[in-house]
Amino acid sequence: MPDIAFVNGRFLPLADAVISIEDRGFQFGDGVYEVIRTYRGRPFEVEAHLERLDKSSRALNLPQPYSHSRWKQLIDEAVGRSSHSEAKIYIQITRGSAPRDHAYSSDLVPTTVMTVRQLHSLDPKVMASGVEVVSTEDVRWGRCDIKSVNLLANVFARQQAKIAGAFEAILVKDGLVTEGAVSNVMAIQGGTLVTAPEGHRILSGVTRSVILRLAREDGFRIEERYLSISELRDADEVFLTGTTVEVLGVVGVDGKAIGSAKPGRLTLQLSKRFRDRIA
Ligand code: PDD
Repeated sequence: MPDIAFVNGRFLPLADAVISIEDRGFQFGDGVYEVIRTYRGRPFEVEAHLERLDKSSRALNLPQPYSHSRWKQLIDEAVGRSSHSEAKIYIQITRGSAPRDHAYSSDLVPTTVMTVRQLHSLDPKVMASGVEVVSTEDVRWGRCDIKSVNLLANVFARQQAKIAGAFEAILVKDGLVTEGAVSNVMAIQGGTLVTAPEGHRILSGVTRSVILRLAREDGFRIEERYLSISELRDADEVFLTGTTVEVLGVVGVDGKAIGSAKPGRLTLQLSKRFRDRIA
């Protein structure tokens, strides 16, 4: 079976899936989303993703169409229908379809969409060698903790990185590193793992939580505080975390080498712990 779509309760081939052009997700970015991946056919940390979906929906006053147990059934069914064992599951809930008006009526029926496509993991050579990143101003709104489909600032940042030949854009607000355009950022500074605190300025990554848990188990000292961009460039190690990037070593920030320009020892330790956790 090819890539799968699920639209408002119905499974169909992705190529046949359509929604109204008056959908508020399309017209205003009025909606939320999640990206979940499978390893060998099993969705990873699905409960944490569904909890975050609830949180994002609540923040936008969007009703949840399904309970967690129903979502899990639907996700399993979609993955099963697709037959992809390494799959990227995308879920989007928008406020629904209505004649265009910024303010909305509370009786709209949300549009619920899920897609399952084959996931192309990062090239193991890239994982092994690490990546370059560039910094750019974080011009997003004040509620980056909501996983909203309003991603224009992330789109621009990511495109800027692409044009610069870099893997990821590091977002900087008032001189402080918040996160990446599609990932969270962590650094090792004198043996301490430092990462931006949860709050309105970052998306609280599911992978971020898993890595912090594993680092705690391994006895790491952890500081959840903002690093300045110059501290990041001077860090001993830097790495990204996220559903699509997993644990990915950063070997250069804005053209400045990090450590010995290879993924660092503690980055590799956490990356291995993450792989073991998956296995
Ligand atoms: N993005 N920060 C931002 C801004 C993100 O968009 C993401 C993930 C993360 C990492 O979160 P998690 O570990 O839960 O995947 C952090 C997804 C993958 C995306 O937009 O495609």
